[in-house]
Amino acid sequence: MNIRLHDGPLADLKCDAVFVPLDGGISLSKGTEELVARLRQSGEITGKRGELTILHEPSGLAASRLILMGVGSGLDANQAFFMAGQALRAAQKRKFNRIAFALSDGGLVRALSEGCVYGSYERPKYKNDDTLSAVDEILIIAPGANQSEFDAGIVVGESVNLTRRLVDMPANDLGPVEFAEMAESMGIAAGLKAEVLDEPGLEALGAGSFLSVAKGSERPPRLVRLDWNPAEAANNSHLFLVGKGVTFDTGGLSLKPANSMEKMKYDMAGAATMFGAITAIARLNIPQRVSCILGLVENMPSGTATRPGDIVQAMNGKTIEVINTDAEGRLVLADALTYAVRHGATHLIDAATLTGAVSIALGAINIGMMGNSQSLQDHIKAVGQSIGEQFWQLPMNDDYLEPMKGDLSDLRNAGTDRKAGTITAAKFLEQFVDSTPWVHLDIAGTANLDKAQPNAPQGASGIAVRSLVRAVQNWSDGGLQ
Ligand code: BES
Ligand code: MN
Ligand code: ZN
Repeated sequence: MNIRLHDGPLADLKCDAVFVPLDGGISLSKGTEELVARLRQSGEITGKRGELTILHEPSGLAASRLILMGVGSGLDANQAFFMAGQALRAAQKRKFNRIAFALSDGGLVRALSEGCVYGSYERPKYKNDDTLSAVDEILIIAPGANQSEFDAGIVVGESVNLTRRLVDMPANDLGPVEFAEMAESMGIAAGLKAEVLDEPGLEALGAGSFLSVAKGSERPPRLVRLDWNPAEAANNSHLFLVGKGVTFDTGGLSLKPANSMEKMKYDMAGAATMFGAITAIARLNIPQRVSCILGLVENMPSGTATRPGDIVQAMNGKTIEVINTDAEGRLVLADALTYAVRHGATHLIDAATLTGAVSIALGAINIGMMGNSQSLQDHIKAVGQSIGEQFWQLPMNDDYLEPMKGDLSDLRNAGTDRKAGTITAAKFLEQFVDSTPWVHLDIAGTANLDKAQPNAPQGASGIAVRSLVRAVQNWSDGGLQ
């Protein structure tokens, strides 16, 4: 796929289709304008988000088709990203080779290039009769667009798709070792320093909480550390991005019922999100020090698995009674967060498909956000808002820690009921961050699309990568040091 900015006149452009937003300020022939007005009057064009109107052999254009796109409540970065992706998917479906997307100016170019790459996502190929064809050439017409903004959008779009590809890979092909190998080689290729800890290395660190999750699986765990250490950092902050990477979650001995288990290959989405984000941060050469910790493990039941009632000791010394082996994500993150704190994190963000409860509370619309730092949460919410990714902050009163306090042990990994399950999980995590400013993102409800969307197939959404990259790019805007 070749995607580039084009600055010749639209009228002369030969291609299968030109996509334009309705009311996007693109001048069309008088005949076309009149036709559009009639279609609007008759109600055939309503302008709602996702609407496509295809006009063949449009007068005044060399293109074979003019495709008008509804813009919903208006053309902003969120809508531009969505429309570009929708245009790509519509073109693939119709087997177009060469398309153009025209806007009247360059203000939204990054959202457009990101959206095009997002829409061109190809899932890992397992289907013998996969008929989806790639679009060869995409020309973006956006007068005055900044080339480096355009390029940044491509890089971020590619990183989001990297995240999605990892999430969509079935667990038989992506276990902890395979994920670690990919993260290491692709991380190095992106300009990161990489270090992989295996089981003996984790034992030496006393990561008993993390290791307790791995015990039931024949596949050994890995902890991957990636560092982006730019020569001239803009400040002294050192952000750690920590991801839950459970490559498959059966629930362990607290086994999940079959219908709750089938999708659990996406339980590594937090790790894939943080990995995608840090590769983009490196490739964009952002002058902020950032590291990434991926806790990679498979949660299986077996004769060697951790039993409910077992008490394990985390890297920071705290003891945890494993009430429910299906509450494994927090056991992984406990040690991954401690590791980050010990290695100099000044700020922490973790992402995890941590609780089913978050999708009961917020559905697939908002990411559940919690933490101990209001300014870091405000910052993430604001960057998300600017591009249409939504973060909803949940309360973190200390009362929510009560059910997680242990009887025989310091902590227990699950409460006695399911009340406020998303928050009690976050309160558990908070016990491992000391007082480092920290934000927890529960993406269990949002990381996987149950249904295909106009701009994406069913499967991994890649949510939060774009916001995290922008959060780091605009770091000081959040008043963060
Ligand atoms: N990976 C699951 C959470 C999840 C559920 C992600 C649905 C995506 C979709 C997590 O490990 C889990 O099983 N959490 C339990 C915690 C409970 C046992 C305290 C849950 O949410 O039921
Ligand atoms: Mn689980
Ligand atoms: Zn899980």
